[in-house]
Amino acid sequence: METMTITIRPLTPVFGAEITGVDLKNLDDATFAEIEKAFETYSILVFPRQDLDDDAQIAFSRRFGDLEKTQGHIANNFQVKHVSEITNLDPNGKLMAPDDPRVLYRLGQRNWHSDSSFKRVPAKASLLHARKLPPDGGDTQFASLRAAYDALPESRKRELEDKVAIHHYAYSRRNGGYQLTNEEEDKRFPPVPQAIIRANPVNGRKALYVGSHASHIRGMPEEEGNALLKELLEFATQEKFTYLHRWKVGDLVMYDNRAALHRARPYKITEHARILHRTTVAGEGPTVAA
Ligand SMILES: [Fe+2]
Repeated sequence: METMTITIRPLTPVFGAEITGVDLKNLDDATFAEIEKAFETYSILVFPRQDLDDDAQIAFSRRFGDLEKTQGHIANNFQVKHVSEITNLDPNGKLMAPDDPRVLYRLGQRNWHSDSSFKRVPAKASLLHARKLPPDGGDTQFASLRAAYDALPESRKRELEDKVAIHHYAYSRRNGGYQLTNEEEDKRFPPVPQAIIRANPVNGRKALYVGSHASHIRGMPEEEGNALLKELLEFATQEKFTYLHRWKVGDLVMYDNRAALHRARPYKITEHARILHRTTVAGEGPTVAA
């Protein structure tokens, strides 16, 4: 058997690493252990040139924990499965029209967010594999919530330590000016509490867990909490805490939703196809007791 030499190259001074010299379809336990450690350390892992089909992506993702299933949703043509296709093509392979609700849904992804933070148990990690890309644009930008936490004044850290934010899917979707949820979705995703400061269970690093699904802060007047969350989100997404990933076909990018935000960058969504396949590793439990 060919031996692999794993190489881990940091991408920015604060987070992110590119990992080469591995084939994700064929990983021994020792190499996987190094990858898992790198994931906890760097939050964002980029694996270039990975030739993966859905089964191989699912198998690799499962090594990190149970997978979330995609709910039947307008963005995935109401199919329920372990891989969700992020695409601007309709089921017939045609580019969606500019007024297609699925196009509007994709525009919602341009807000900074952490996947599933609007669920009681938010996602641990998400993995995106690039299958087809536009000639330019369509990048994904990440922000380190650990770097943001570290940079907060001590008084702010203390003030936020036990605070709980209320995250609501409908809030973020309506906030962007798009009325994209309906009553059924509002019922399925009621507002949920999330800790604002989260510590990594392996290395203890703390993260400022904010994002565009967070609407207000428990125990604070709504407007005041909302304003503070907006300020914190702006603080957390300063350029110096971010990494912009310019996709190449075959890239597998894995990100830690507990410690990083992300947003999709624009591209000519009604002119060029862009297809990524996503798997999501479920979180291990709620971030606050109730
Ligand atoms: Fe996302």
